[in-house]
Amino acid sequence: MDRIRLVGGNELHGEIPISGAKNAALPLMIASLLTREPLVLENVPRLADVTQLEKILENHGVDIAVHGRKSAALDGQRMTLQAAEIVDTTAPYELVSTMRASFWVIGPLLARAHEARVSLPGGCAIGTRPVDLFLYGLRELGAEIDIDEGYVVARAPKGGLRGARINFPKVTVGATHVIMMAATLARGTTIIENAAMEPEVTDVAECLVKMGAKISGIGTRTLTIEGVDELHGATHEVVADRIEAGTYAMAAAMTGGEVLLKNAKAIHLQAALDKLTAAGARVTSEANGIRIYRNGNGIQAVDVETDPFPGFATDLQAQFMGLMTMAQGVSHIRETIFENRFMHVAELARFGADIKVDGQLATVTGVPQLKGAQVMATDLRASVSLVIAGLAAKGETVVNRIYHLDRGFERLEDKLSAVGAEIERVTG
Ligand code: EPZ
Repeated sequence: MDRIRLVGGNELHGEIPISGAKNAALPLMIASLLTREPLVLENVPRLADVTQLEKILENHGVDIAVHGRKSAALDGQRMTLQAAEIVDTTAPYELVSTMRASFWVIGPLLARAHEARVSLPGGCAIGTRPVDLFLYGLRELGAEIDIDEGYVVARAPKGGLRGARINFPKVTVGATHVIMMAATLARGTTIIENAAMEPEVTDVAECLVKMGAKISGIGTRTLTIEGVDELHGATHEVVADRIEAGTYAMAAAMTGGEVLLKNAKAIHLQAALDKLTAAGARVTSEANGIRIYRNGNGIQAVDVETDPFPGFATDLQAQFMGLMTMAQGVSHIRETIFENRFMHVAELARFGADIKVDGQLATVTGVPQLKGAQVMATDLRASVSLVIAGLAAKGETVVNRIYHLDRGFERLEDKLSAVGAEIERVTG
C-alpha cells in the first residue's frame, strides 16, 4: 500500500497550481444525466473519486471520453459526458458504497427517467450522514419513495416531478444539489429555502443554466427553479478547489515561506483566510490567485467554529487544527457540521500535539515543536492535516493508508515538492 514519506523543516516558496474542485466536479459529472446531449467539463481534477464516479455513470449509460488523463502537466482534464439514453436506473451497492456523492444520481435519474433505485450510501467515518433531507425534498417534488433491501426506490408521479416549495431545516450541500438538479426538469416552479450556498453549489447552478435550466437566486439561501421540458449540452470549467487552496495556505503558514496559490479565489475561502491572518500569516488576493506569506514569527492561537459557507469550512477544520498544534497559546475548535470529525486528533498527538476533545469541542494547546512520526490517515481531510503537520515537524514522518488522499488531492507530493518540501510517495 502506498505511503507518503516526508522530512519536515523546509519553508515553502513558489507557486502551487490549484486544481478543479472535487466537490464541484462530482455533481457536475452527475448533471450530465439530465440531457441526451454532450456535457463538456474542463479542468476536471485527476482523482480517485472522479474515476469511481465515471464507473457509476457508465453503468447508467453515460458515454465518457477524457482528454489529458495521463498528462504530466498540472492542468485539469477535459471530460465529455453524454447520456444519450439512460440504460439502467439502478445504482448498485458495490458502486455507491465507496463514495457518498454517488447517491446524488437519484435526482437526475428521477427527473429524466422518472424512476431510480439507488443504494443507500451507508455510514461514513465522519458521522452518520443520513439521507432524510434528500427524501423529504424528493417527496415534496411528488416522488413516491420506499426503502427496499438497502435501496431507495423512487418513482416520479405520472407526467414527471412537479415543482414545490422546499424548506430545508438544516443546510445540506448534497440535498441542495439533488433537489436543484431534479427541479430543472420538473413541471412548474420549485423554491428551495435554506439552500446551501457553497461555491460548488453555485458552480453547478451556473452550469445548469448553460444547459438551459432556469434558476434564479444563485449564490443565495433561496433558489428558484422554473422547470423546463429538456436541457441541452454545454461546456463548463470546474471552479478552483477552495479546500485544496486552504490546505496549502495552512501548510505555508505552518512551515513559513511565501506561496502563490494559483487560480484560487479568496472570496471562496474568506473565513479561513481571516483566521490565518489572525494567526499571523499575511494573505493577499491577486489577479491570478492568493498569496500567503509568513516570516519566522510564531503562529498565534485562534478559535474556530465550522459553519456552512460563507462560514469556516468543516473540510478545513483538521488542517487548521494541525496549524494550531504549534501556535502560541490555546485554541478552541468547534465542529458543528459532522459529529465525528476529530479522528485526526489521536494521530496529531503522535507528533507531540496537545489536544483535548470534549464532544464537538477540541482544545489545542500549542507546543513549540512537533516531532515526525508514523501516522495513519483515516479520512480525506484528516490525512492531509497529517501531511502538513509532518511538513512542520522535526525529522521524518510516514503517512500510511494514503488512498484517502488520492480521493481528493491531485498529485499532492508533486505540488509540495515543487515548492521545496522534502516529500515522496513510497509505493508497495
Ligand atoms: C458535502 O457533503 C461535501 N461532499 C463534504 O466534503 C463537506 O464536508 C460537506 O458537504 C459539508 O460542507 C461533497 O461535496 C462531495 P451535507 P454532504 O449534506 O453533502 C446532515 C470532503 O472531505 N444531513 O452538507 O454529504 C449531515 O449529516 C467531503 O470532501 C442530514 O442530517 O454534506 C451533516 O451533519 C466530506 N440529512 C449536515 O447535514 C441529510 O439528508 C451537512 O451535510 C443530509 C445531510
